[in-house]
Amino acid sequence: MAKPISLTRYLVEQQRVDGHIPGDLRLLLEVVARACKRISQAVNKGALGGVLGSADSENVQGEVQKKLDIIANEVLIEANEWGGHLAAMASEEMDSIYLVPNRYPQGEYLLLFDPLDGSSNIDVNVSIGTIFSVLKKPEGSPGVTEQDFLQAGAQQVAAGYCVYGPQTTLVLTVGDGVAMFTLDREQGSFVLTQENVRIPEDTKEFAINMSNMRHWDEPVKRYIDECLQGKEGPRGKDFNMRWIASMVADVHRILTRGGVFMYPWDKREPNKPGKLRLMYEANPMSWLVEQAGGAATNGKQRILDIQPQQLHERVSVILGSKNEVERVTSYHSTL
Ligand code: AHG
Ligand code: MN
Ligand code: MN
Repeated sequence: MAKPISLTRYLVEQQRVDGHIPGDLRLLLEVVARACKRISQAVNKGALGGVLGSADSENVQGEVQKKLDIIANEVLIEANEWGGHLAAMASEEMDSIYLVPNRYPQGEYLLLFDPLDGSSNIDVNVSIGTIFSVLKKPEGSPGVTEQDFLQAGAQQVAAGYCVYGPQTTLVLTVGDGVAMFTLDREQGSFVLTQENVRIPEDTKEFAINMSNMRHWDEPVKRYIDECLQGKEGPRGKDFNMRWIASMVADVHRILTRGGVFMYPWDKREPNKPGKLRLMYEANPMSWLVEQAGGAATNGKQRILDIQPQQLHERVSVILGSKNEVERVTSYHSTL
């Protein structure tokens, strides 16, 4: 039987053999993985570790923070600030960017994260996760400013997530396909369990929060309505629905067996482009999905081509199996 391949070995091979990543990026990804292990331990302890419940504070987007939102954010910062691989970090849970303190060496990468995705699922013991995205600091600019982070998703040099579910699984791309690693708790390391992840181009499964139906725009209504008509409708097949309310878990299912995920713009707050955050959620997930042969748009354009205007910008998201994403996107231009 072939020997298990650890994340460390996988990354060394990406660096040395295939030349896909520089040494500093390898270090960065190892450190992020180590932080995810610590978060996974905290998640696992649950009530025994006193990590459940709210923290009596709000983040910059006005959302009530859970204790684990804050713990995960701190773990990621502490793990990443001293290694010399980063220039700065940005997080869904912090108002502004976090500069690497002067006492540590400065690197050339920018790390962005949603430290704890699926916060509403923490206390009910349903899968949650961490999502991350890595950019390169633009060359020639001294220091780091928020402006340096405002790069389109197509500029990412690495992206991934870690899902804390029945298993803890780290999913990663450095632009050479998608690989999945399962946490071996006895060994304390992530082990490669799937390479070249591919999303089937067709699917019979959609994920959307149906309770928002009355607020949707016509193209989304049309798409879901056609799915709901099943065999008797224009699609000629029955569809299944899933909604976990943790984007990590929904995207993980799609990377595993296909499907389409949508959190579209809706009429509740017409000036808000959507619920999900471009830099911490949509960009890393869209790149992973594209790297696995899927597609990701905001209904009008490829998410990875959107030029961000603000760090905490929100965006409408349609991602997953290619043919379904293309169909929903085409409804946006014909209606
Ligand atoms: P977060 O916990 O980081 O704020 O993200 C939650 C997001 C996303 O993970 C999920 O798909 C969506 O919010 C769920 O929203 P609803 O509760 O509106 O269904
Ligand atoms: Mn999130
Ligand atoms: Mn979050």
